[in-house]
Amino acid sequence: MKSSPIDRYSDYDLYARIYNDEIGDRLSRLALLPLERLLFSTLPAPASLLDLCCGTGHLVADLTRRGYTVWGLDGSEQMLHYAHLNAPEATFLLADARSFSLPQPVQAVISTSDSLNHILQLDELSQVFQNVHAALVPQGYFLFDFNLESRYQAATWNGSLSGGITEDYAWAAQRLYDGHLGQVNLTIFQRVENDLWRRSDSCLTGRSYDIAAVQSALTQAGFTNIQIYNAQDDFDIQDWGEGKVYIWCRKSIAID
Ligand SMILES: C[S@@+](CC[C@H](N)C(=O)[O-])C[C@H]1O[C@@H](n2cnc3c(N)ncnc32)[C@H](O)[C@@H]1O
Repeated sequence: MKSSPIDRYSDYDLYARIYNDEIGDRLSRLALLPLERLLFSTLPAPASLLDLCCGTGHLVADLTRRGYTVWGLDGSEQMLHYAHLNAPEATFLLADARSFSLPQPVQAVISTSDSLNHILQLDELSQVFQNVHAALVPQGYFLFDFNLESRYQAATWNGSLSGGITEDYAWAAQRLYDGHLGQVNLTIFQRVENDLWRRSDSCLTGRSYDIAAVQSALTQAGFTNIQIYNAQDDFDIQDWGEGKVYIWCRKSIAID
């Protein structure tokens, strides 16, 4: 494993409990339609899959129930804590997408819920694609979703608020787009004991890329048959609003 703890992306650690309780299950169900259309029919179980940036492992759990052999990788130790509980049959790796390698190649890599928008530099995104390419068997598949700039600009994202309250925590998030980066500003109060609460403030940052730059980086990494699907138009998924695409491609036949 070549991941360095220095640059491992761990920004979701503080958010992990809330993500597990309120978000992961819903987002994993949203990811199923593109997976059903593109992946499940092409590559039936028990094929081997990597869920890159798997978060709390809700999708991993679904995939293992379908009979797939699943690896999950994430940079957040706390997200993986829940992933282990949610999908005990899967194998999880604490690593960074920009610097990972797998001990053995898989037949497909997936990455969902705009995880790869958290990669903030194009050269790092290219590195992720190269790592995915190396993690695949020849002609293996890669499916990921991605926010275009129009998603960050839309009122469904820019300025939108969400939050929740339970007996043990209260949280609020505001999404803002500054024309370059999308930022989710999070404030969380967690009960430490009885009447003692701890406040934490954090920011999850994402950026969009020009789709042509993403295609070019994929081609340079050795992917072919690149197909781009729009979540609203092609899969009738309205929950994301506009500007969400799914990219489906294949490792070229040439051996590394
Ligand atoms: C929006 S969540 C999505 C989680 C999961 N894929 C889902 O659909 O629920 C983004 C996840 O990507 C992970 N992540 C972001 N950048 C990463 C990186 N460079 N390396 C590893 N994990 C990363 C975060 O830790 C987080 O768990």
